[in-house]
Amino acid sequence: MENLIEIKGVTHAYKTKAGPFPVLRDLNIAIPKHSFCAVVGPSGCGKSTLTRLIAGLMFPDQGEVWLHGELVKSPRKTVGMAFQNPVLLEWRTILQNVILPLEIVAPSMPKAQKEARAKELLALVGLEGFENKRPSELSGGMRQRASLCRALVHKPDIIILDEPFGALDAFTREDLWQTMHQLREKEPFTALLITHDLRESVYLGDQVVVLSGRPATTQYVMQVDVPGPRPLEMLYETDTVERLAVLRREIQIAQGRAVA
Ligand SMILES: Nc1ncnc2c1ncn2[C@@H]1O[C@H](COP(=O)(O)OP(=O)(O)O)[C@@H](O)[C@H]1O
Ligand SMILES: [Mg+2]
Repeated sequence: MENLIEIKGVTHAYKTKAGPFPVLRDLNIAIPKHSFCAVVGPSGCGKSTLTRLIAGLMFPDQGEVWLHGELVKSPRKTVGMAFQNPVLLEWRTILQNVILPLEIVAPSMPKAQKEARAKELLALVGLEGFENKRPSELSGGMRQRASLCRALVHKPDIIILDEPFGALDAFTREDLWQTMHQLREKEPFTALLITHDLRESVYLGDQVVVLSGRPATTQYVMQVDVPGPRPLEMLYETDTVERLAVLRREIQIAQGRAVA
């Protein structure tokens, strides 16, 4: 299958006053079109740095990032992003927040069309009737749903999710995992999800990449060949429990708490 995202031999160090601070070393990840890649790794190992390199907000010292068979050389407007903090603008309504990417990538689209598109997504994630509320009038889970709609509104081929469910309570998180599967069914996309939740990585990922400690390299790759939309019951199946045990051990190795 065609790889939509390819990280090839990426090595990167931040330039600091104390000298270069190595963050990624010879990192390789290949993500086929319409598949979901979950990335887990120790805190501070370089996961958010990886997302910035894919979005073209930074460029690696060595190696290459390819999207759609094109080398990334400049910021990509067509990447949808969502973060742990939903970063919605309080002076805009939920609807106005969600249409924001369309104002940037499709300025000539009629306003009614932009709004119709945003409303369609908001309905899909269960936010019908909240279009005219301000972000502060919504719960954390609802704000995160709105931020997912904003990441998807312009139909990006690629979405990058940097721990978007990390700050939510366990039940809201599981709801949103299911929502992600529903969104994928409706409009396939290629996703890279950073998470520190192993259950989340296995439930959502078609592959799970474990990064080593900083400077991060690809330590372990697990394929999860379970067709979507996946039922939550999957989390309690023997296969999943076995996968989680393997990942747990890999994380411990990455953290230097166990030997390979
Ligand atoms: N702009 C920067 N300049 C210098 N060091 C940075 C910068 N951004 C992040 N770092 C450092 O690089 C390492 C990796 O950061 P990050 O990619 O945010 O890690 P993660 O998302 O895996 O927790 C961390 O040790 C962090 O302190
Ligand atoms: Mg991070």
